[in-house]
Amino acid sequence: MKCLLVSDLHYTLKQLDWLQQQAQRYDVVVIAGDHLDISSVVALEAQIVVTLKYLQRVSSRTRLLASSGNHDLNAAAPSGEKVAAWMTRVRRLGVPTDGDFFEAGDCVFSVCPWWDGPISQREVGAQLQRDAAAAAGRRWIWVYHSPPDNSPTSWAGKRHYGDSAVVEWIERYRPDMVLTGHIHQSPFRSGGSWVDRIGTTWVFNSGRQIGPIPCHVVLDTDANTATWLSLAGTEEVRLDAELDRAALQPVA
Ligand SMILES: [Fe+2]
Repeated sequence: MKCLLVSDLHYTLKQLDWLQQQAQRYDVVVIAGDHLDISSVVALEAQIVVTLKYLQRVSSRTRLLASSGNHDLNAAAPSGEKVAAWMTRVRRLGVPTDGDFFEAGDCVFSVCPWWDGPISQREVGAQLQRDAAAAAGRRWIWVYHSPPDNSPTSWAGKRHYGDSAVVEWIERYRPDMVLTGHIHQSPFRSGGSWVDRIGTTWVFNSGRQIGPIPCHVVLDTDANTATWLSLAGTEEVRLDAELDRAALQPVA
């Protein structure tokens, strides 16, 4: 299976154009949250309408999975916690999204929402507990906007800005891979990276860059490789070997 990971497109239409053009080269395309840009002058609802159109186009060319991120929260739940309510409109397009479990070839995916407080955090925990049984014995991949805390994939240059809940869940359930974004600069900072390994779990953060091509990670489960492509260069790891940081090309 060939899977493309991008994240944090933040309503960058040129990058969505690129994604639409590239989609058919992959069996699965994952957008790991932050579709919208809350600092944009474009109204959030208008961004949602345009983004849904793009998601529909990408999903007409391949299997698309899309989670929410912290920029995608457009409503409040009865609990008062913010939620990305528009993800139900994503699901109506036939695109697996927040809360969904999806099987593709030798892989199964859990698509997790951004959690804004203890209630939505517990729901993500319940989702992973539920999916663990269904994923048993298969390659289990999580789509989860935030990288884990204390990982190079959540290093922002001066400190980590990761999620400590996902650290615990990774240790408990040992998924094969966690596909993230959120901390845009991690892959570009000294001490940061697009890739980490926690126990047997691979963690990827695609990062974010300017220009028409988003930085992205290509996962090839037949060749057992993960490749990160960006303006700063290309790096690759073998998924059937230990993570050897010294073998990665240095990034300025
Ligand atoms: Fe972001």
